[in-house]
Amino acid sequence: MLSGSTVNGNTLIEKIGSRSAIIGIIGLGYVGLPLAMQVVKSGYRTIGFDIEKNRINIINKIRENDYQNNGETFEGFIEKNIFEVTTDFLLLKDVDIVCICVPTPLDIYQQPDLSYVKESVTNIANNLHSGMLIILESTTYPGTTEEMVKSQLEYISGMKCGEEFFLAFSPERIDPGNKKYNVKNIPKIVGGIDDISTKITKIFYQSILESEVYTVSSPRVAEMTKIYENIFRNVNIALVNEMAILCHKMNINIWEVIEAAKTKPYGFMPFYPGPGIGGHCIPLDPFYLTWKAREYNYHTKFIELAGEINRYMPEYTVERIAKILSKKFKKSLNGAKILLIGVAYKKDIDDIRESPSLEIIKKLEEENSLISYYDPYIMSFTFKEREYTGLQKITAEEIRSQDMVVIATDHTAIDYDLIIQNAKVVFDTRNIIKEKKDNIEKL
Ligand SMILES: NC(=O)c1ccc[n+]([C@@H]2O[C@H](COP(=O)([O-])OP(=O)(O)OC[C@H]3O[C@@H](n4cnc5c(N)ncnc54)[C@H](O)[C@@H]3O)[C@@H](O)[C@H]2O)c1
Repeated sequence: MLSGSTVNGNTLIEKIGSRSAIIGIIGLGYVGLPLAMQVVKSGYRTIGFDIEKNRINIINKIRENDYQNNGETFEGFIEKNIFEVTTDFLLLKDVDIVCICVPTPLDIYQQPDLSYVKESVTNIANNLHSGMLIILESTTYPGTTEEMVKSQLEYISGMKCGEEFFLAFSPERIDPGNKKYNVKNIPKIVGGIDDISTKITKIFYQSILESEVYTVSSPRVAEMTKIYENIFRNVNIALVNEMAILCHKMNINIWEVIEAAKTKPYGFMPFYPGPGIGGHCIPLDPFYLTWKAREYNYHTKFIELAGEINRYMPEYTVERIAKILSKKFKKSLNGAKILLIGVAYKKDIDDIRESPSLEIIKKLEEENSLISYYDPYIMSFTFKEREYTGLQKITAEEIRSQDMVVIATDHTAIDYDLIIQNAKVVFDTRNIIKEKKDNIEKL
């Protein structure tokens, strides 16, 4: 692997200009696949890498049928013959620019689990060649790129970062299911290990995106920017969840309060309460910083408090379900038939990771409620080693047979009128139902 020669980056910049650079995307999930598609569309030969053979098979199958992503149809993978997906990491030796988009979860001790990133970095290091650019896109704590990625690449390959290869961090900000903002039009942040790494990374993203590419002085700043954005969401959701709990006690409609507050043209940004937070990012990312802060003997109080409130929301939802059943029908949770609408963690997507619906189902089952669910995006799932299968569709008869319908996810493709007209009582945790009726309760 040792090349020993210093490269100035001009060759790679020329390759970007002529679209002759070969791009590798490691990890083909919610982040990596849309990015790979955008790179292909921009005219680059692209190689997608994943460790899951099954994921590769699924991608190969769906692309034959014009893969739909975020409302966009992607055609022409096969005709152009410029997109290949593989589990063979030896193909990295042909790649000029590689983006790492693998998971960054927490381990069982709620500490950062960088094992997926480390495995990807090892695969790259074993195939590193002179003039290659490596971009980490996975969300992580400040310092990962400089402290871990750089040193591992140098140690394994024997090559020198900044002299023989280039390295940058550029966080992914995609919001799956968002119809307005997608991989192409969300501004990109770039922080390279040095000026040349920043410059090449910026030129590369400018060649595939329509959005602004904003550069910062280091990977640490870019890493912190991404974490701060997600903490901002996490903390504000916790605040509005606390407001919702208090408003209910005070018999004030939180949704009306938010609509009114939204009229202020400055200094206020609406966030909405719900049955809890989910997904791979908002519940987990803040704890990457909490962990790192310990190294600096600092306790991140806001993050901990927000986590506490947000984690309580599924329990609060179940408490409210119990109170509604008791008030309306003098019934307890024990034996109550409850239909949950939506198990995805947010509307119009099929992602169940960390979904509050899972906690709600678990807690209701502990109380011996009889739970069924309907989610047009998730026909079945496994949770705590149990298989759950959803209803194929919801009918008036099915709804009438339930003691309560709980709207946990406000998917667009749900017939809410059918629910309102037939349910004994609906507990709407998302404010999707706008009409006021006696059988509708709100969070
Ligand atoms: N999902 C989001 O909305 C979102 C948004 C912004 C940022 N992010 C961040 O992006 C990163 C990826 O998240 P995601 O939601 O796309 O995850 P994902 O689970 O949907 O996809 C990750 C993919 O990486 C593959 N993978 C795991 N280890 C690998 C390895 N060593 N080599 C190759 N492939 C490997 C998995 O098989 C999977 O297909 C995370 O750091 C996440 O925090 C996610």
